[in-house]
Amino acid sequence: MISVTNVQKQYRDGDTTVHALRGVSLSIEQGEFISIAGPSGSGKTTLLNLIGCIDTATAGEISIDGRAVAGCGKRELAAIRREKLGFVFQSFNLIPVLTAFENVAFSLTLTGTPDAEARERTMRILDEVGLAGMEDRRPSQLSGGQQQRVAVARALVKEPTVVLADEPTANLDSRTGHAILELMVEMNRRHNTTFVFSTHDQMVMDYARRLTMLHDGEIVSDERRSA
Ligand SMILES: Nc1ncnc2c1ncn2[C@@H]1O[C@H](COP(=O)(O)OP(=O)(O)OP(=O)(O)O)[C@@H](O)[C@H]1O
Ligand SMILES: [Mg+2]
Repeated sequence: MISVTNVQKQYRDGDTTVHALRGVSLSIEQGEFISIAGPSGSGKTTLLNLIGCIDTATAGEISIDGRAVAGCGKRELAAIRREKLGFVFQSFNLIPVLTAFENVAFSLTLTGTPDAEARERTMRILDEVGLAGMEDRRPSQLSGGQQQRVAVARALVKEPTVVLADEPTANLDSRTGHAILELMVEMNRRHNTTFVFSTHDQMVMDYARRLTMLHDGEIVSDERRSA
């Protein structure tokens, strides 16, 4: 369902070139629960951004659902992002002037969900991530961990085919981290949603059924384990 073939990514930094990914190939099936681990700077965020059509590769190919991303125009990419992908970013990317409720409901409004249904689904997911009663707060009125949970709720509420989560537990205490991972496991089981995480967190790696290690822009190991 996601196929990454010999992908390279270089960033220009003044007159030096940073080789963030050096020929990465990876194939991810629908319903996988995969964690991409590796030291800081190894290319995890870069890889998620490429899979998420947020950035484009310098070389190589990425396809989602059999569609080569490189051949898609801007509008097509936006449609793939909106309809198939849910994101949890390392830096949340919440809209500061919107409340928790509005930040989550917004992604349903974008896909044309009727108001009453959007309202119900938003309230339910906010409750599931433990934010009942905080719907009307803006991000600045929430702790880092609470903002993270709003970001997770926003990604999950659309019930996307693929959820890409960059360090989803980075700002959470271990209890909240477990709760959110359990919620993702449940969604994976119920809807066969594909989850792709990047992480440093052993807890996330323990939940993953496949662990791919990056080092200096290359995959150094890729292991599946039984559930
Ligand atoms: N926009 C950019 N311009 C220049 N270099 C970049 C840019 N983004 C990332 N890099 C570099 O690319 C490499 C990979 O970065 P990336 O963010 O993918 O690592 P990461 O594995 O997600 O690290 P972390 O665990 O710290 O989040 C690093 O050397 C980083 O400095
Ligand atoms: Mg990163």
